[in-house]
Amino acid sequence: MNKLATKIAKKDNSYFYDKVLLRKNHLPVGSIVVLDCFAGEGKIWKEIKRITGRSDIDVIGIDINKRRGNYTIKTDNRKFLLSANLSKYNVIDVDAYGDCSKQIGIIFDRLRRCEHQDVTVFFTFIQIQQGSVSSYLLRAAGFSDKMRRKCPTLFAYHAFEYFCQYLFSQDIDRIYLREAVKGSSRKRYGCFVIKSRKTKESLDKTQ
Ligand SMILES: C[S@@+](CC[C@H](N)C(=O)[O-])C[C@H]1O[C@@H](n2cnc3c(N)ncnc32)[C@H](O)[C@@H]1O
Repeated sequence: MNKLATKIAKKDNSYFYDKVLLRKNHLPVGSIVVLDCFAGEGKIWKEIKRITGRSDIDVIGIDINKRRGNYTIKTDNRKFLLSANLSKYNVIDVDAYGDCSKQIGIIFDRLRRCEHQDVTVFFTFIQIQQGSVSSYLLRAAGFSDKMRRKCPTLFAYHAFEYFCQYLFSQDIDRIYLREAVKGSSRKRYGCFVIKSRKTKESLDKTQ
């Protein structure tokens, strides 16, 4: 992490209600099984359950640190995503402190290899203007490591565009977004659906 990023305090849930409402407004129909990859204390999904009054939302939470949430699996989400069976989840939540492209990349890769349902992915992507962009995202956007090393901060301004380009290259047709700008930091809260094979086939038939 660069010096600027370490100076900005990490707050688990700034813009808490933006995150809650985005999720509440895009919940899939039917019962829901959530894989909460950056679970923290699980406040977002606790609040969604409270305001919707729904009892058919199951949440499996992962956090790299020991947090107070009582259902949290303590591990690095990248390890979990690489090895777990993702087909049982119809919601995957990636509420990161920064660039979540690595986790999203693993999710696409793992789902491509299994029979899965429609999966709604909620994400937080935080971009700091003079910060650096992950090598994973730059590689996905077609920049070589050599180009990145020359001037790591050069790409920061467009990081979120690269992220969206990457999503659209993965057969995503729309992204819902809420955006918050504060000083040099831009927070994007969004969601999209990774369609199942069945949904893709039925869409193909109707076109
Ligand atoms: C923005 S907070 C999450 C807030 C949470 N979604 C909620 O509802 O309260 C981010 C959390 O991600 C955790 N975290 C950071 N990197 C991680 C990783 N690689 N794997 C799992 N958890 C991680 C941090 O410990 C922190 O608790």
